[in-house]
Amino acid sequence: MNTYITTPIFYVNAQPHLGHAYTAVVADVYHRFNLLRGARARFQTGTDEHGDKIAAAAADNNISPQAYADQISAMFRECWPLLEVKPDNFIRTTDSAHKQVVGRVLQRLYEQGDIVFSDYSGLYCRGCERFLTEKELDNGLCPDHQTAPEEVTESNYFFKMSRYQEWLIEHIEVNPQFITPARYRNEVLSFLKEPLEDLCISRPTSRLTWGIPLPFDDNYVTYVWFDALLNYLTGLGYDPDGESGPLFNDFWPVAEHVIAKDILKPHAIFWPTMLKAMGVAPYQRLHVHGYWNINDTKMSKSIGNVVRPQDLAADYGADAVRYFMLREMSFGLDASFSPEVLIKRYNSDLANDLGNLCSRTLAMVKKFTNGRIPDQPGTADELDEGLITAAVGMIAEFEGHMADFSFHLALRAVWEVIGLANRYIVENAPWELARDAARRPRLEAVIYNLLETLRLIALPLHAVMPATAARIFAILQIEAAPDLSAQGKWGGILRPGLETTLRGALFPRLDDKGRKQEMPLKSGSRKKVKDKEEQGLDFDEFQRLDLRVARITAAERIPKSKRLLKLTVEAPEIRTIVAGIAESYQPDEIIGREVIIVANLKPVKLMGVVSQGMVLAARDKDGRLILSTVAGTVQPGSKVA
Ligand code: MSP
Repeated sequence: MNTYITTPIFYVNAQPHLGHAYTAVVADVYHRFNLLRGARARFQTGTDEHGDKIAAAAADNNISPQAYADQISAMFRECWPLLEVKPDNFIRTTDSAHKQVVGRVLQRLYEQGDIVFSDYSGLYCRGCERFLTEKELDNGLCPDHQTAPEEVTESNYFFKMSRYQEWLIEHIEVNPQFITPARYRNEVLSFLKEPLEDLCISRPTSRLTWGIPLPFDDNYVTYVWFDALLNYLTGLGYDPDGESGPLFNDFWPVAEHVIAKDILKPHAIFWPTMLKAMGVAPYQRLHVHGYWNINDTKMSKSIGNVVRPQDLAADYGADAVRYFMLREMSFGLDASFSPEVLIKRYNSDLANDLGNLCSRTLAMVKKFTNGRIPDQPGTADELDEGLITAAVGMIAEFEGHMADFSFHLALRAVWEVIGLANRYIVENAPWELARDAARRPRLEAVIYNLLETLRLIALPLHAVMPATAARIFAILQIEAAPDLSAQGKWGGILRPGLETTLRGALFPRLDDKGRKQEMPLKSGSRKKVKDKEEQGLDFDEFQRLDLRVARITAAERIPKSKRLLKLTVEAPEIRTIVAGIAESYQPDEIIGREVIIVANLKPVKLMGVVSQGMVLAARDKDGRLILSTVAGTVQPGSKVA
């Protein structure tokens, strides 16, 4: 299986910002995901360096367009590794190989009559670098740039795009995956209901010289979009007149482009019709995402709210930024960025959920099994089965969502397993098992299951958080390269007896200014990290627990489960809680009782039922669970503090 993923090539009239970074991260994640599932995968990005905008920006900076393009292009190239974005090819439209191929494509289309010379007068928007139709205007202004287009009359060369309109409509209709999500496909189909105008593909040198000269008329340079779109082919060694070679043959048939909604039309209309005219098969899929706004306003230099990816990487680390972007934005819709939202997600999902699972598990390994991986248990009880099924099922779910570009759902599936594993620790109370030598095998089984779950969590995360995932694999001493199909099963991979150590927290908590509350220790430092359990709980941490009195109003057994009861409680709102007390209580005997619950746990699904909290209970000397309660009468929902 091969895959080829591209980002738009970014204009060099502005420095990299959060919006560019999102597209680049998405493409990188998809690329790594495909490598993880064993594909031969190629990823291309680059810079778009010709045209009006660049010429104007260079003039403003008093340097030549080429020198200007060199500077900004280098900024993009140097920015991406800071976010762990690692393309196989970084293309520039000023590369001579690219310019040559663009010239030859133009020549062929001209010779076959797809490019014609004609007079044109129209409304030209400098920002869009194209003529706009009256219909596209918003109160006489370009809707994207809020500027009035100029009336321009000139003779130009046109690509006969209209010839391919019917073909394009049919292609989109029979290939529902061609443009996704569906909202953008519908937008394109509705635009195509009107007759297409031919596309002006030249600019007279009297007006613009910074472009690729037309091979058949040196009074003109090429319109920047016609030049730029071809990058997707020139980067594969495409040859319009001969044999294109293995890169093109292997990767063009599987091409997928990622863009934002701002450049839908060039990608969904100009580009496929150009390809059709050239006799090249259309790309496979176009993935269109929404816009990042900053605190709900548009990001812009004039407002001064442009977010630099370099700063994000330095403040939070590449993995946290990548996770945040993919988890926070539903692909296709707009999202709002603010440091507060990022810090909140970082603390809850990374420091608390994933970080704690890792540090708690490894602290237990250190304390109870001498720092070593225990043997794989031969049997599994009901709790174990629940964890195993969820962890293995998550791998398939992750794969399905990633292939659909539903990144937030793919990550949500991983985080459900993290929640379940954290819960598994509480339910198995390893520190109690450790008190009884007879329960040692169970203690070791619980620890093995947690380590194995951690491994299955880290496996898919190689696509999204490569450094974190590699760190977890290194802790677990897994030497083989990550591989979703070979390693996405339960058991047989961890090597019992090997030592595991975690130095420093994976994700130290951040305060509300984004400062790390506990610095990770430098590797090699001899200073010992105290286990959380040994250190005791901070009062702040305790206060985060929402303990409440709840009245049980209904209780029933969960089919096929020996341990679980489904409770309906009033606290004071009605919620469902799944409690592992079926071996200690009959459903009827607890209705009407007041119990203490943890009310702010993340919901988790247990045996198909979503549990919205946890009931507190203590074990008596025979191992029977005794429900907690308050000594007098209080209203359901009262806070326990
Ligand atoms: N040079 C053209 C693309 C040619 S591709 C053959 C171009 N360049 S651009 O620098 O303006 O980049 C536009 C792209 O940057 C968007 O499609 C998107 O990928 C990304 N973004 C720019 N601002 C963005 C947001 N605010 N939010 C999300 N992505 C945005 O157009």
